Parts: sequence; C-alpha cells; structure tokens
Amino acid sequence: MFSAELMLEPFSLFASMRESQPVLHVEQLGAYLLFRYADVKRAYEDHAVFSSNNPLRQPSNSPIVETMIFRDPPEHSRLRALAQSAFTPKAIAAIEPRIEDIARAHIDAIASPNADFVQLFSAPFPALVIAELLGVDASRRAQFVSFANDIVASVLVPDVLTNVLDEFQRFARAIVEEKRSHTDNRLLSQWLANPDTTTEEVVGLAVLLLVAGHETTTNLLNNTVRCLSDAPHVKQRLIETPELAPRVIDEVLRFRGPVLAAFRRTRTAVVLSDTTIPADSLVLPLIGSANRDPSAFANPDVFDPDRSTRGMLSFGSGIHRCLGEPLARLETQLALRLLLKRYPALRVDPSRPIEPILSPVVHGARSLPVVV
Ligand code: HEM
Repeated sequence: MFSAELMLEPFSLFASMRESQPVLHVEQLGAYLLFRYADVKRAYEDHAVFSSNNPLRQPSNSPIVETMIFRDPPEHSRLRALAQSAFTPKAIAAIEPRIEDIARAHIDAIASPNADFVQLFSAPFPALVIAELLGVDASRRAQFVSFANDIVASVLVPDVLTNVLDEFQRFARAIVEEKRSHTDNRLLSQWLANPDTTTEEVVGLAVLLLVAGHETTTNLLNNTVRCLSDAPHVKQRLIETPELAPRVIDEVLRFRGPVLAAFRRTRTAVVLSDTTIPADSLVLPLIGSANRDPSAFANPDVFDPDRSTRGMLSFGSGIHRCLGEPLARLETQLALRLLLKRYPALRVDPSRPIEPILSPVVHGARSLPVVV
C-alpha cells in the first residue's frame, strides 16, 4: 500500500482523491482518510467531535498515552500549560548559540563520499538539540541519539516500537531521577521544580519531546534539501539573500511538510463532504493533501516562496497545534544558513535513490544521498 514511489511523491494521488473520494475508508488502516482542506481543518479544530484521546487504543502503560498529544481537555489543557513556557520564541532564542554549535559540529562530515544527509546531519542534529533542551548529561547523549534513531527505525513495527519506547522510558526515568540531585537550568529541572507536576509526567514529557520533535525536524531538513535541489533558482536566491530563509522554510512546510497526518477518533457520527463517518471511527486527516488543495492555495503544486502560506496546516490547528514550532523553525533556519554558506552546491545526488519513509503519517526520507 505504501510503495516507495508513492511515498516519495503522493501528491497527484491526493489531488485525484480530493476530486473523486474525499472521504475514503481504507480497510488495511481501519481508518477514514480525509483529503479536502475544509474537512482536514475541521477535524483538527473540532475537538468535541474528533477526539485525540488515545485514538489508536494503545495499551494504557504505553509511555506516550498519558501525554498531552493523546489527551482531550481538560487534561490536555493542564498538561500543555506545564510545558508551554519552555517553547516561547524567547525561551528558544536563549539556546540559539548552543543549537548553532551542534549544527556546526555536524557540518564537516557531509563532504564525505557517498554521504547520507540523514545519518550525518538531519537525524543527529535535532536529537542533540532536544537533549540540550532537556538537560541530558553529555555522557548520555550518544545513547539518547541512538534511541531517537531506533524510534524512527521501528515506527512501522508496532511491537518493536512499543519495546523501544519502553526502554527509552526507563532511560528517561533514570535521567529524571538523577536531575533531582543534579539540578540545572534546563527543562527537566524546571519541570521537576514545579509542584503541580508528577515525576511520571516529566518522564512522559521527555518521551513526547523526542517522539514529536525529532523525526519531524529531521524531515523538514530533508525536505528542504529536496525542494531546493528541485528548484535551483530558489536556492541561488537564498544564497544571495539569506533573509529569505523563513519564507523558503514556510513554503517547504506547505509544499512538502514532514507531518502527513495525526490520528483522531470520532466521538459522534459526522458528515464530511457528503459522507457519513460513524461514531468511534479512526480518522486520518491528511495535512499533506490539505496543503495542496486549490480551494486554499492558488497553483498549489508550484513551489513558490513568494506566496502567502497563511492557513497552511503543517503544524496542525486548534488546541493541539504544535508546541515546538518556534524551535523547529529556528533549527531549520540556522542549519540552512550554515549548510548553504559552506556548501553552496549541496543537492540530492541524482545517481543514488532516496529511501522514503513508508508511513501514513510522515513525509520524509530514511536516507537522502547528497553531493556537495
Ligand atoms: C517541522 C517540525 C515539526 C512539525 C511539522 C510538527 C508538527 C506537529 C503537528 C502537526 C502537531 C499536531 C498533532 C495533533 O494535532 O495531534 C504537533 C504537535 C506537537 N508537537 Fe510538533 N512538529 C514539529 C516539531 C516539533 C518539535 C521540534 C517539538 C518539540 C521539541 C514538537 C512538539 C510537539 C508537541 C509537544 C505537540 C503536541 C501538542 C499538543 O498536543 O497540544 N514538535 N506537531
């Protein structure tokens, strides 16, 4: 169902589905797929009908189930408020120099022959930024990155993923316990100092940040390299005018955003595009299709950083809208500036295949061959 060819370029299929079957029940996934902008937006914004409460019915001891992303209000509001202050643009700007150091430390390797951008840069960089943010001790960082990679590698094998997440939860719990006696000014210590937070909630937040903030940023970086390889004139403009970076990244997020969809479960029956979805159905509202819907964006299949991306759904919408958006944007801007300054000829290597991620929720690459 998820062939490499389709997952590399799913957008023409999305376009025909928006026309012919905008609400499609897929047996293999046991889910209704939504393709039209208006339906997708509604599913993210109408949380009274489209619940986030453990939509995949994972076992209740799964490390991720108790975190904000899988909870409805009022629990969601409380958990989100505990984490929110860490992600303001001001809080993120404070760690900018460290983010830049981490990116710099990974730049040299990209010049090696047969370079894989994912392995050398786009996977380790955001994992180390999250480690920095949380306050993971230097001696534990290699293990932290290795967990991040294992999570990505096992995303499509639920049993393996559950085991990896269980192990990571144990590792995170040990780090959190250590923080009780070795306090610093990073997130784990801040959260532990909050009398309204339990240790388990702090462990849950650490797991959620790695799961929600790692592969997403890795693939925003990958997809940016892909878009600029396909549009060398945009890359040239960006090299000449680095201030264009935020607009280019915005358009990459619309055109080839890394999150294709997030699951929901209907609380009641609901009619979308003349199709009734029964109560208690699993729903997958496709952000990747909504962002290419001509009813929301003119000439949606043209990559054009001069357009307005207002209304794009790449970071979701409504109460679960991404908490890490300022961090993801900053990381990508810093990395892009350093990469293009050092390697103006950086592009996808056309002589080696891109290995896409075969998942209904991520648009990105498991390996991305590049030349400089
Ligand atoms: C390009 C990078 C990223 C993209 C495209 C992205 C996208 C998204 C989307 C679509 C959602 C909504 C999920 C839903 O509605 O169920 C979300 C939620 C979330 N994201 Fe991100 N994300 C990115 C990076 C990050 C980073 C770097 C972090 C933190 C380190 C992060 C933390 C979160 C959290 C905690 C939530 C849950 C918010 C809630 O449930 O209220 N994300 N993200």
